[in-house]
Amino acid sequence: MASRRARLARLPDELRSLDPGTWLWGRPPSLPPGARLAPSPPPLPLLGHFHAFGRGPERLRKVLTLRERYGDLVRLRFGGIQAHLVASPEIVQEVLHTRNREFDKHTRGTYKLRLVLGLGLLTSEGRFWLRQRRISQPAFHRKKIASFADRMVNAAEETCAEWREGEAFDAHEAMMRLTLRVVSETLLGTAVTNDAATVGAALDVVIADVNRRVNQLVELPPPIPTRHNRRFMEAMGTLDRIVLEIIEERRRSGIERDDLLQMLMDTRDAETGERMDDAQLRDEVMTIFLAGHETTANALSWSLYLLAKSPEVARKLRAEVRGALGDRRATFEDLRALPYTRQVIEEAMRLYPPAWMIARAPVADTELGGYFVPKRNLLLLSPWVVHRHPDYWRDPEGFDPDRFAPEARATHHRFQYFPFGGGPRLCIGNNFALMEAQLVLATLAQRWHLELVPGRDVVAEPLVTLRPRGGLWMTPRRP
Ligand code: HEM
Repeated sequence: MASRRARLARLPDELRSLDPGTWLWGRPPSLPPGARLAPSPPPLPLLGHFHAFGRGPERLRKVLTLRERYGDLVRLRFGGIQAHLVASPEIVQEVLHTRNREFDKHTRGTYKLRLVLGLGLLTSEGRFWLRQRRISQPAFHRKKIASFADRMVNAAEETCAEWREGEAFDAHEAMMRLTLRVVSETLLGTAVTNDAATVGAALDVVIADVNRRVNQLVELPPPIPTRHNRRFMEAMGTLDRIVLEIIEERRRSGIERDDLLQMLMDTRDAETGERMDDAQLRDEVMTIFLAGHETTANALSWSLYLLAKSPEVARKLRAEVRGALGDRRATFEDLRALPYTRQVIEEAMRLYPPAWMIARAPVADTELGGYFVPKRNLLLLSPWVVHRHPDYWRDPEGFDPDRFAPEARATHHRFQYFPFGGGPRLCIGNNFALMEAQLVLATLAQRWHLELVPGRDVVAEPLVTLRPRGGLWMTPRRP
């Protein structure tokens, strides 16, 4: 296996393809005769479209406006970086699924994520990725994840037990801790109980830092000791230590489990017979820590938020849970009797997709939706925009879980809803996440009714994931 440093040394091709012409007038030098460019808002000299794309929470409104004004493929430029905002399910399907080989993940976002995740499943590519995906896949098999139900319900029950009637708390923070605990216990076979607070705090620093780097055009690389970089390196050091301890502990204990960590540790390379080295194991474990908890926590937080704002939906959910479970604990077998609970989560992920933007780049000049797209152009596939597209969703801003009832779902375009991406790079944890969210939401609804704290506005913040800025403050009441 190539050394970690060599593997990380690859710069995103998008940065190599900068061309002075694109900075000045935004036209790709390779435009073939007769080819059409996608519509574009008027650019500012040099800067391009930073203003039209907005920043912070206003970005969410701005990208919807871009689709409204310019259509389903909008050409944008951020300084010298050429991009297209994609709002059409057909194009999303082409890029992620039917023509997926023509697009890769060598984008600015992946490059920033690699600072934290190295070359784990989310950030690797090609044959190397495929090999890692095949090794990990069995850990997410339906039968395998069914055995996790009990731990998920345990974690939910213990979280509920910490709340006190009438005492406001940050529900987003609670969901983050809960989902971190679930991935650690089920996939990595470690309780992280002693380290939970340390891991949580270090992950917060790291996530905030990646977000900052993705959004900044100019940044100083981590080894330069700025205040931010020092905090980042410190947090990374903490996470590295804990992850390597988890691996070491498993080796020392000699206990063989059949979880994801064991699969990763036992696999040998077909050609060399070598096992994965510690650096690669670390990247995979870190990926699971990160990809496997924040997204699910966001899905749960947005579900709680929308339920609190929609008493009718909340009543229907509680009625379903009461009918299916009464006072007993939820089990894997109960999932089928909780279809509305699942629809609530799916609808919450329509309105607030945790992965609100998915990036790809074409490996060669290409055409999408009848428009020319030069190679290495940054394609921003946005579940946020597609999930609110008025051609596909009636009353797109309304919260209505019945959209996901089987008869309504049958009328959907395959890619008008893609919170987990699609094609070969479809989220490996999608069933795991849905099952966890369904069990957690049902368990919470049995015990508590959560109200929003008046006066504390909830603002969606589009970072790498879509999370409630400053947390989600709620007051528990007995239902
Ligand atoms: C509601 C929860 C979740 C959402 C919305 C979500 C979303 C996504 C999306 C959109 C992708 C594709 C990214 C791309 O194409 O560039 C992805 C990939 C991935 N997700 Fe998730 N995810 C969730 C939960 C999980 C969980 C629970 C795990 C693991 C326990 C997980 C692990 C991964 C991994 C490893 C990948 C990379 C897969 C690959 O490229 O082969 N995710 N996720």
